[in-house]
Amino acid sequence: MRKIIIDTDPGIDDALAILLALSAKEELEVLALTTVNGNVDIEKVTKNAFKILDVAGRRDIPVYKGNSKPLMRENSMPADCHGDDGLGNIGMEESGRVPEEESAADFLIRKAREEKGEITLVPIGPLTNIAEAIQKDPEFVKNIKEVVIMGGAIHEGNVTPHAEFNFWVDPEAAKIVFQAGFEKIVMVGLDATRYVWLDPALRELLYQINTPVSRFIHKVTRVYADAHWGYGQKLGCELCDVLVTAYLLDTSVLETTDAFVDVETQGLCDGASVVYPIWKYGDRQKNCEAAVKADTKKFFEIFFGYLFPEYLENVKKIQG
Ligand code: BDR
Ligand code: CA
Repeated sequence: MRKIIIDTDPGIDDALAILLALSAKEELEVLALTTVNGNVDIEKVTKNAFKILDVAGRRDIPVYKGNSKPLMRENSMPADCHGDDGLGNIGMEESGRVPEEESAADFLIRKAREEKGEITLVPIGPLTNIAEAIQKDPEFVKNIKEVVIMGGAIHEGNVTPHAEFNFWVDPEAAKIVFQAGFEKIVMVGLDATRYVWLDPALRELLYQINTPVSRFIHKVTRVYADAHWGYGQKLGCELCDVLVTAYLLDTSVLETTDAFVDVETQGLCDGASVVYPIWKYGDRQKNCEAAVKADTKKFFEIFFGYLFPEYLENVKKIQG
């Protein structure tokens, strides 16, 4: 059983990543959600975290509120694909819960110390809280087992030609994380997430499955799919953050390469991850495993297999 803390800025794909993690009761123990400014502001993402836990029927999971702005710079533009409220504008009721008193970074530090070597960090938003924890506690990095990050890109960004959104919001934080010396980092970037595309047939299946969770996913992805249509007239949407959870459940869903990763913090390529594969740059010191590709069929079998196991055969038929 992996003990995980999801650091998140929900976020439509964040919501799906969290729901998938919570459905894997035998494999993943979700200790808490920590929130961070990103897709929308910190107040909205924190409210959204509670709403997602309500959908999953997991009001027992604590939420720790994190940073309201990047570590060393002012806020960037919010993402434009998650709706004004960050969760698809579907008019969900407020949960009525409030965050714990401790800040996200202080909680991360304390929990990592209490469960030394046991915790997998799962950041699926900007890396501000993780960088703050690194700066505040010299022992933090050693206390963490592994970090599986959604962010960055080897080849092409999604906010600028080179920068991916999570790194672009807080490049200094991302740089600190890669330089920190964690035992293991997996960078799940856009080179891999472009393989996990929820197409209209699979999205329709979610509607037909007709459970509260499947209908929620169908509804919440409406705005997200509209935004993707707006970018490139492509039907469907990319489930970036969800690939991280799928990897935790079955690592063979990703092909990775050992790499040295650095992050640009200024100029034209601000926020871009610079990825040196070790096979090519043997003089560099490996600091992560960078995802180069994902297995689409396997991903959707994991996604539906955990959330809606009785529909796995339908998924196989749709995927051909
Ligand atoms: C990342 O940006 C956000 O909009 C998504 O939630 C995801 O974490 C993809 O670049
Ligand atoms: Ca996210």
